[in-house]
Amino acid sequence: MSNVSRVVRNFPSPVRKRIYNMVPSEGENGVFTQSWFAMAMSYQVPTGKVVGRDFLDGRIVLFRGENGRVVAMSAYCPHVGADLAVGEVIGNDLRCAFHHWQYGQDGQCVKTGIGDKPPKGACTFVFPTQERYGIIWVFNGEKALFDLPDFPYPDDEMEFGHPYEPQELSSEPWTFCANTPDRQHAVVVHKMKLIEEEFHDNFVWDSFGFKFTYWGQDQDDVPLETTLAIRGTTIFYRSGFYGDFWRGSIVGFGLPRPGHLTMHATNYVRKGPKAQEQLERTHEVSRRTLSEDREIINTMHYRPGHLIKADKSLARFLTYVRKYPRAHPSAEFIR
Ligand code: FES
Ligand SMILES: [Fe+2]
Repeated sequence: MSNVSRVVRNFPSPVRKRIYNMVPSEGENGVFTQSWFAMAMSYQVPTGKVVGRDFLDGRIVLFRGENGRVVAMSAYCPHVGADLAVGEVIGNDLRCAFHHWQYGQDGQCVKTGIGDKPPKGACTFVFPTQERYGIIWVFNGEKALFDLPDFPYPDDEMEFGHPYEPQELSSEPWTFCANTPDRQHAVVVHKMKLIEEEFHDNFVWDSFGFKFTYWGQDQDDVPLETTLAIRGTTIFYRSGFYGDFWRGSIVGFGLPRPGHLTMHATNYVRKGPKAQEQLERTHEVSRRTLSEDREIINTMHYRPGHLIKADKSLARFLTYVRKYPRAHPSAEFIR
């Protein structure tokens, strides 16, 4: 037997104090932020087509009837639950593939395939929906609480295009939106040269987001005069001068399931002989910005910890998201 005695040293235990001031995750306690979610590009839902989309940890369908209107409704048929995404658009209605029950644009069952009268309560959940900026937007709620932002020019005075295809990232929409008020991030990752020292003083807040205007230069030394905004928890907006031309951008986020976002982007320039060139330059900047952000956004767990003075507007945004209205009125329908 060895009689080597073991010496146990007691190190002082480190301070492991949790200092995070968390923002509730989407889906926490069964609710989601009430915002306009981008569900598809307009070109993905032509007349006569139905598409299925994962949304709020459930499933919805988008379809466009003969009258051109896009409708967003819960996907599972109230008869016995077939996914209406495999159904067919008939006129302005959507017909379930399983037993041919047919649903109007208000979600009400208007007829059954066999000819029996449809039950009174047979209806889907129809979401407030609008189509704007080449994107189909769906509001998480019975009624929209705010509207989409406007650009300073009418639609028919602008050219638009999409810098990239819709895509999914492993993060929640609000975490990507939190990049916008994050001054440290703008400077170190996107290499923005912000002339305006009082970045934080330019913010104008309301109940559904903020906007601020800054003057500076981007990483290519192009002078900028730009207004940036976040609306709700899902809409990034940019409008202003990039060198000698105006450009506008809108990015809408979808939320297929907690911890994931989809992004849908549209850029605008003013009509004119240089429009295509300007639009292409705007797309390049959008693609570059996304490539600078992608790996960070895809891998981070957003935990507000040690914030500093430069994080003043970011801190306010995080408080805004913590207090943001949350609900899930379609819960019983979309799962
Ligand atoms: S499940 Fe849709 S009609 Fe039966
Ligand atoms: Fe960013």
